[in-house]
Amino acid sequence: MTIRFDGRTAIVTGAGGGLGRAYALDLARRGANVIVNDLGGTRDGMGGSDAAASVVAEIEAMGGQAIANDGSVTDAPAMEAMVANAIDRFGSVDILINNAGVLRDKSFAKMSHNDFAFVVQVHLIGSAVCTKAVWDHMRERQYGRILMTASSSGLYGNFGQANYGAAKLGIAGLTRTLALEGAKYNVRVNTLAPTAWTRMTEDIFPEAAAALFTPETVAPAAVYLVSEDAPNNVIVGAGAGVFQSAHITLTDGVRLTGEDLSAEGIAAHWDAILDRSREITPQSGSEQAQSIFRKLQG
Ligand code: NAI
Repeated sequence: MTIRFDGRTAIVTGAGGGLGRAYALDLARRGANVIVNDLGGTRDGMGGSDAAASVVAEIEAMGGQAIANDGSVTDAPAMEAMVANAIDRFGSVDILINNAGVLRDKSFAKMSHNDFAFVVQVHLIGSAVCTKAVWDHMRERQYGRILMTASSSGLYGNFGQANYGAAKLGIAGLTRTLALEGAKYNVRVNTLAPTAWTRMTEDIFPEAAAALFTPETVAPAAVYLVSEDAPNNVIVGAGAGVFQSAHITLTDGVRLTGEDLSAEGIAAHWDAILDRSREITPQSGSEQAQSIFRKLQG
């Protein structure tokens, strides 16, 4: 079945290049009106350019409808104005892809407070700001598809990316709760952890990988995850045409009492605490508490 977005309007942040551009073009090709947001700065978040306008020109050249927006995702009034403008022009905002991002990599020992805060601000706070700008509108219309961008660095860690990793796992955490809060309003929220050769990764990725790891090989996951039949509350990995799902699991664990309820008891039962044979994948925080109650009941 062909997935189409006719009559739907999508905002893609950071869509002036890299992955966001590929998402914007794929959505537009499938009939969506697209708001191409990008302030067009450098990889570490300095300056600006007309990156958004050039992607809008590409979309218009293929007969699509698009609006450029050069506001920062961290600027709440600017993002609210972007959403209001999209609703004025197209009638609704149905899709938001939070994709904008910057890098300021350094080992934690050398990282300044400012570089930590800036990266968290753009990725995590920026995702919250843009989501807040569409949230009430989507709830009222009983329709919304929101995709957040995490990273393997957040899910699993990466040397030199303490700021970025903290922001990215924070984004996955934001998704978990928004997916629960949005569900009854038909607002579905998912997380994508992409791997692609873009300006963000060009100096850590071997050049030979560039042809395989194109943004276009990630875009199908992004497009599916904002489609009408999208799942809710999943974490998907995508790169070079390989698609995966990631899970935050919980082991069955052990109940310790008496003298065992001590640091020494933890040490003695460490293998059983880590034993993954009866692991579960909670779908909300309360499921952890429920699993504890089950354990108490024997
Ligand atoms: P990119 O640097 O080409 O794209 C990021 C875009 O965000 C840029 O066009 C930039 O101008 C824009 N941007 C930065 N700050 C902004 C702000 N405050 N407001 C609006 N736009 C802003 O890099 P790429 O690789 O396309 O990254 C897209 C997303 O995917 C990012 O969130 C990144 O962290 C994430 N990601 C990328 C991976 C990869 O392998 N390329 C791996 C994991 C995550």
